[in-house]
Amino acid sequence: MSSRVANPALRSKIMTAEDAAALINHGDNVGMSGFTGAGYPKAVPKALADRMTAAHQRGDDFRVGVWTGASTAPELDGALAEADGVELRLPYQSDPISRAKINAGTMEYIDVHLSHVAQMTWEGFLGRLDVALVEVAAVNEDGTLLPSASVGNNKTWIDQADKVILEVNAWQRLELEGMHDIYYGTALPPHRKPVMITDAADRIGDPFFRCPPDKIIGIVETDAPDRNTAFKALDDDSKAIAGHLMDFLQSEVRAGRMPEKLLPLQSGVGNIANAVLAGLSESPWKGLQAYTEVLQDGMLDLIENGTIEVASATAFSLSPEGVQRFNDDIDFFSKRIIMRPQEISNHPEVIRRLGVIASNGLIEADIYGNVNSTHIMGSRIQNGIGGSGDFARNAFLSTFVTPSTAKGGALSCIVPMVTHVDHTEHDVQVLITEQGLADLRGCSPRRRAQRIIDHCAHPDFRPMLQDYFDRAQRGAWGMQTPHLLGEAFSWHERFMQTGTMRGSSRNSLTCFHVATHRPSGTRRENR
Ligand code: COA
Repeated sequence: MSSRVANPALRSKIMTAEDAAALINHGDNVGMSGFTGAGYPKAVPKALADRMTAAHQRGDDFRVGVWTGASTAPELDGALAEADGVELRLPYQSDPISRAKINAGTMEYIDVHLSHVAQMTWEGFLGRLDVALVEVAAVNEDGTLLPSASVGNNKTWIDQADKVILEVNAWQRLELEGMHDIYYGTALPPHRKPVMITDAADRIGDPFFRCPPDKIIGIVETDAPDRNTAFKALDDDSKAIAGHLMDFLQSEVRAGRMPEKLLPLQSGVGNIANAVLAGLSESPWKGLQAYTEVLQDGMLDLIENGTIEVASATAFSLSPEGVQRFNDDIDFFSKRIIMRPQEISNHPEVIRRLGVIASNGLIEADIYGNVNSTHIMGSRIQNGIGGSGDFARNAFLSTFVTPSTAKGGALSCIVPMVTHVDHTEHDVQVLITEQGLADLRGCSPRRRAQRIIDHCAHPDFRPMLQDYFDRAQRGAWGMQTPHLLGEAFSWHERFMQTGTMRGSSRNSLTCFHVATHRPSGTRRENR
């Protein structure tokens, strides 16, 4: 393989992954590239994990703080978690081994809004960043760096870390050059200036990362593919959810609340969000824009068929087939995609200015419209909030999508009270399940509850929710947001005891005992 390190001075820093891993010490905080299985370092984390295992076998402690853009892949999160080498993880992960360790209490995890991570690092809130470990596609002759398939927090890691280790991955296509827009105008208050993006297609930055050459302590050459998981095939429920959203957007255009060509679209992570994009493919719209965080397979379809003419994001989140399609037609796609640092792709100011239409998945919503995107039964993390809060709070239109039930119908995703709140009732404007769509805008809490029960709840759970809501209106301590506090979590208690939420909501009060049944600890990986 011919070297992609064109700078002669930096070529002398090429070394093995093992030698590079030896430059990372116990207790270091390491800012790693990687965002949903794209652009993560592929060789050094594995070598680091081996060092950690050897240290543990000698009775020495060896753990590091791992900061990334978002989730990565088994070669990074999986390998380090397996080696018990992660002291603290942030800001978003979806690795099953890490998830199990976090939920067992043996790995610390801080779930942060993705747009906040860079500024928290500049502010020093997260402590010192010792090492940046960043995958790039090439090192240019002048020492600038061609970013790879995700940008994430890489600019911040390179800027803020004391030392930089690069992985130069020859598998990443050189045609990525020109797709990135690395903005160097960010500052801390009181020196902040407006971020001058007024159209999703605007470019305000550089095509490359800058890095002082003397900061670079090692370069490892790799040639390995990104690894993302495939999406679930579209089912009837996801098609129905997409259909409800499309009908709603059309009615918003007819009502004059939305321009003919809509507003820039954001689509969240996961299977349902991907399915919603597929629904757009069958819509009459052409020439739309996306101002979003990740580009899933569904977005490629939309760009290919002209529904989307330009998409701004921070990372790819493609299935292996999606990666193949992108690489096969990279010249076409690269003219239509812009990749930005995540503090810009998810910037509240820009999202608000552009008037983004946001669509994100959830774990559960309650009858008043509060949304839990992250926790199972209030205590166990699934993935993390990711950028959903950045978009939901600041969007022109904030929609959340979910099947009405989970676990084969044993669970209702609409519950009396969510067991964890990521998005409050104030940030959730439209809730959509396969059953229908509840437009919550302009509704007081009790009107919201009736709409959600009528339009979103599964028919098997609707009478139980109505019964709870009716009794709450008769027996609650106040009528603004009526709840029966002793009963509000009884559905979850019942699931933990019996494996189902089904049953009478009244009888559920008898369920407040030690749980005997628990859902399994390790879940399939989700981005
Ligand atoms: N109670 C318990 N478990 C539930 C549940 C509920 N109410 N609803 C879903 N689940 C489980 C599913 O059973 C599934 O578990 P499994 O992996 O063991 O099968 C898992 O959660 C994921 O559900 P799935 O239906 O496959 O949803 P998804 O792939 O569309 O992902 C989220 C949904 C909420 C997990 C995902 O969207 C997410 O992580 N969101 C937070 C981050 C985010 O929104 N980022 C977007 C920023 S741009």
